[in-house]
Formats: sequence, C-alpha cells, structure tokens
Amino acid sequence: MSTKRVIGAEALEDARQRGRNQFEVLPGDIVTAMARETAARIGIQLVDGPIEKPSAPVTDGATALRRGLYRRSPRWVTPQASKSTRPRRLRKLALVGAGGVGANIAHLAANRDMADDITLIDIAPGVAEAMALDLNHASGITGSRARCVGSTDLAMVAGAEVIVVTAGRARGPGMTRADLIDVNARVMRSTAEVIKTQAPDAIVIVVTNPLDEMTVEMLRATGFPRERVLGMAGTLDSSRFRNALAMAAGVTPADVTAFTLGSHGDEMAPIPSHARIKGRALSAFLSEEQIAACVKDAITGGGQVVALKKTGSATVAPAHSSIELIDHIRGAALGSVPVSVMLEGEFGIDGVVLGVPAHLGAKGLVAIDEIRLTQTEQAALNTAAEAIRTRLGL
Ligand code: 2OP
Repeated sequence: MSTKRVIGAEALEDARQRGRNQFEVLPGDIVTAMARETAARIGIQLVDGPIEKPSAPVTDGATALRRGLYRRSPRWVTPQASKSTRPRRLRKLALVGAGGVGANIAHLAANRDMADDITLIDIAPGVAEAMALDLNHASGITGSRARCVGSTDLAMVAGAEVIVVTAGRARGPGMTRADLIDVNARVMRSTAEVIKTQAPDAIVIVVTNPLDEMTVEMLRATGFPRERVLGMAGTLDSSRFRNALAMAAGVTPADVTAFTLGSHGDEMAPIPSHARIKGRALSAFLSEEQIAACVKDAITGGGQVVALKKTGSATVAPAHSSIELIDHIRGAALGSVPVSVMLEGEFGIDGVVLGVPAHLGAKGLVAIDEIRLTQTEQAALNTAAEAIRTRLGL
C-alpha cells in the first residue's frame, strides 16, 4: 500500500541541490502551492509517477571519494552550480580598466577559454599591453586559444559582445563607495560615449563603484535597454556571505547556498530566509547571533580588504564574480544569479538599479526572479532603493 506524501518546497529545493531537474509525483501525493511555485522558479519539472525507469544517481569518482571522506549519508551529494553542457565561447570580451580586477578577469577568462579575443584597455600607457603580452606568453603552458590585446584606446571595445567596466578610482581606507560618485560618474560617461558608437550591441557589466549608481550612469549615458547594462555586486556579496556562513557552520562553501541583494554598499541585503546549509535552513546550524555576524561580515567584506590593503580594494573575488555573470550570459552557468539591474516595478520598486535575482542569457537580462522575501528583507530592499535615489538626487 502506498503512503500519501505531502510534497513541500523544501523537498524540491533538496532535489535541485542533488542535481535533479525532475521530481516524481506519485498518485495520492499532495503538492503544496508553494512547492509548485518553487518548482517553477528553480526549474524542476513535476512528473506524474511512477516513472518506469528512474535514473540512478550519478556517482563519479570524486563524489564517491567526498562521501567516503566526510562520512556523509550515502544519499548526500554536494550541491554543484548548474552547468550547461554547451556553453558559448565569446568572440570578443573587452575589459575597460586593466587594474587588479580587470587583469584578474582577463586571466580567468583566458584560462577558461571563454573568448577568442580578450581586449584589455587602460588609460595608463603600457599597463594593458603588458598584461595582454604576459597572458599570451602563458598560453604556451595553459594552451589557451584566447588572443589577448592591450591598448590605451577605448575605441578598441569595437565589436565586443561583452564589456566589463572596472575603470575608475578605487576606494582608499576610510572612504565609502559613495565617496567616489562624482569622479567615477565622469569615467562612466566618457566610456559610455565610446561604447555606444563602437559596440552598440554589447552587454555592459559595470564593476566600478559605487556600483548601483555607476550602473545607472552607464545605462543613461549609453541609452542601452536595461537588459544590456548589468551591475556586478550580488555575485561578490553572495560569495562573501556563503564564505562567512561556511566558516561559522564549519562546512565547506560548496555546502552553502545563499545570496545577497540590495545595494553594493551599507544597504546591502543578505537574504537568510533563502539561505541553506546542506539543504537545510540556517537555524539548523547557526544561532541568530551567528547569522547576524555572517550578514555583517558580508556587508563589511569589501571594506575589510580595503582596510588591510590601504592602496585599493579587493581584486580576486570581484574578478571571479564578474566571470560568474559572464558564464551566465554565455550559457556556461544556469539558473538564477544576483545582479544589479534597473527595476521596473519588480519587488514593488521602480526607476532605480538594485541587486535582485535574475536569469541571464545571450542578450543580457532575461527575467527577474521575484522570489518571496520576509518583511524585513523587503524593507531592506526598499531602504537600499531610497538610499540610491537620494545619492543620485532622483
Ligand atoms: C568590493 O566590494 C571592490 O566593491 C568591491 O570589494
């Protein structure tokens, strides 16, 4: 005799983390409304069962080894980011700014063979050219097919499919990201002038701070649709949040799913209600105080690096975070990813750029994922929107 099951959202999230894209619903099972909504959001198909030949869970050598080493239940599988089997290689990736972040993006992009042509541009003579040459020299070992080119000429963005803008002044100790508004807004405007004539179809990813405000500047100055002007912040802040949660819970970062929305500044909004450790709510592993400390760590993460470094801000994590967005654009990573975009009523917010979960594709923004937030989380998004409006004098 079969037992009736009540299938809730958690069962589907758990299945997704195990790499499933189908969930078998047996006769008599009750699927809650929230579960159906979750299934649609995270891309799991509910399939009427019993399915004749259920596929065996994939067990490669590495997974088997992890199971053995960590003595997990034989059913445990470390959650992996969804990866497409057919990622698109970009024809041309252009990086405006070849400082720490731009150079690291170029390095990662070359090593991952993400583009035929990686063009670095920097106002300081020799900087971009040297980095490009250095990367080409490494290709004898890495085997990268990417050809790297360096220049001081912004017009070299011509024909790029994706342009990452990191140019501008970085924070020094004691400075907030907002202190950079005026100087970096001028950099955004002059860069946008060239982008709109030389690469009118490009997707622009803004990394320059203050991120949300500079994304608004880029959007206005290029006149591009919101789909093609994205700000990189949520992937970075989310990575910092996941790192903090993993350290606090004593697990590996791969065991943690969590993201951060809102502004890339003091009004950042880490979202604990959607965060999971080994597929379970944070409260299964951490106290309220520990969770609050992880939230604070994510918000202050960039500032911690600035305070230690004294001459600039973080480079490696922002570069990985930019690569994550490019991977979503080129179909190498699937699912929802936090990204700063101009909101048009989503989450009840209009006319301001803010970090939200979204799906990206070859033409940039595909859809914003209007996930359910707690009242406190929604209030944090509203506060972030107001703060950005005020800073921009809107
Ligand atoms: C950071 O948070 C640079 O804003 C960047 O590290």
